[in-house]
Amino acid sequence: GAAHKGEYRHFMLKEIFEQPEVIATALEGRLSEEGVLVESFGPEAQALFARARQVHIIACGTSYHAGLVARYWLERYAGVPVQVEVASEYRYRHPVVLDDTLFVTLSQSGETADTLAALRFAKTLGYIGSLAICNVPGSSLVRESDLTLMTRAGPEIGVASTKAFTTQLVALMLLTLAMGKAQGLDDAQRAEQAEIVAALKTLPRVCQKALALDGAIEALSQAFAEKHHALFLGRGAHYPIALEGALKLKEISYIHAEAYPAGELKHGPLALVDSEMPVISVAPNDDLLEKLKSNLQEVRARGGQLFVFAEESIGIRDQQDVRVLGVPVIHESLTPLLYTLPLQLLSYHVAVLKGTDVDQPRNLAKSVTVE
Ligand code: G6P
Repeated sequence: GAAHKGEYRHFMLKEIFEQPEVIATALEGRLSEEGVLVESFGPEAQALFARARQVHIIACGTSYHAGLVARYWLERYAGVPVQVEVASEYRYRHPVVLDDTLFVTLSQSGETADTLAALRFAKTLGYIGSLAICNVPGSSLVRESDLTLMTRAGPEIGVASTKAFTTQLVALMLLTLAMGKAQGLDDAQRAEQAEIVAALKTLPRVCQKALALDGAIEALSQAFAEKHHALFLGRGAHYPIALEGALKLKEISYIHAEAYPAGELKHGPLALVDSEMPVISVAPNDDLLEKLKSNLQEVRARGGQLFVFAEESIGIRDQQDVRVLGVPVIHESLTPLLYTLPLQLLSYHVAVLKGTDVDQPRNLAKSVTVE
């Protein structure tokens, strides 16, 4: 039936707060005690995943950012080489497809014209098969793909995608586990998968905790109301999360935002940093943290105002030019998903302050069905 905002001021806010529930739904019946159920992707999944030597992921917009995260995951945890590309570029070049490559599309709607055209084009290029990760059952993309996994986020009304993105990430972690399993795991990899599966089961609850940052983020959003630019930094699998944070901010608050992998700061964007340029960083407690911290020092040294999302235990102190927001702890494989939530809340509250039409930002459409 028709979606209602209920107690929420906007659909976007409602959809942000639905994430713990829809993430649980996206996981339902797809995990056993030890691991992922490969057949969740369809009866042919086991054979196709076992055979795949590489993966090409094609998508647009926010779905493309989910694909970028999946590249880190599939290479790190399943040992499968991955390329990720926006559909509007892919469909007009001459991609070289090696033997035994799996083609994957990501789409909330399943009707994005460029993504659908990319799938049709891919069918002429000799892939071993196609998988669609999609939120709309019966959509064109789902009907035309060999394998499908539904993200089960429910209807998403806000043009700026939120729960569709995080459920795509859940689906992509399931894909990572399924490909690893189908290809065969050694003991260490099996132990790692078991840890990730255990962490996935806690994910809805940990996301709920992260959403408790709402009030603190609303207070902090004041600092952005008069700003014209913002820079988002992340490293590793959190670079795509920085990209997604910047996209959300531009889409709904119309503040110009850019994202950079923090290690690239010195190759250009540092020239822009001054007190008028807020810098937002996602700083999970992983093996890139020390490097990220020194990147952040470079920002401080130029008078930039820093906003850092990090675990409290990592010891970045809250002070005048560094605001730290404590994010709950989860297994490091899942931090890209978890750190997405506070960035969604940040863009939401900045947009509300600026008085934009949050659910229907100017010039944008929920689903782009023409080229
Ligand atoms: C539009 C929407 C975005 C979305 C993109 C891809 O630009 O405004 O939120 O990420 O299309 O849509 P899809 O349905 O393919 O995920």
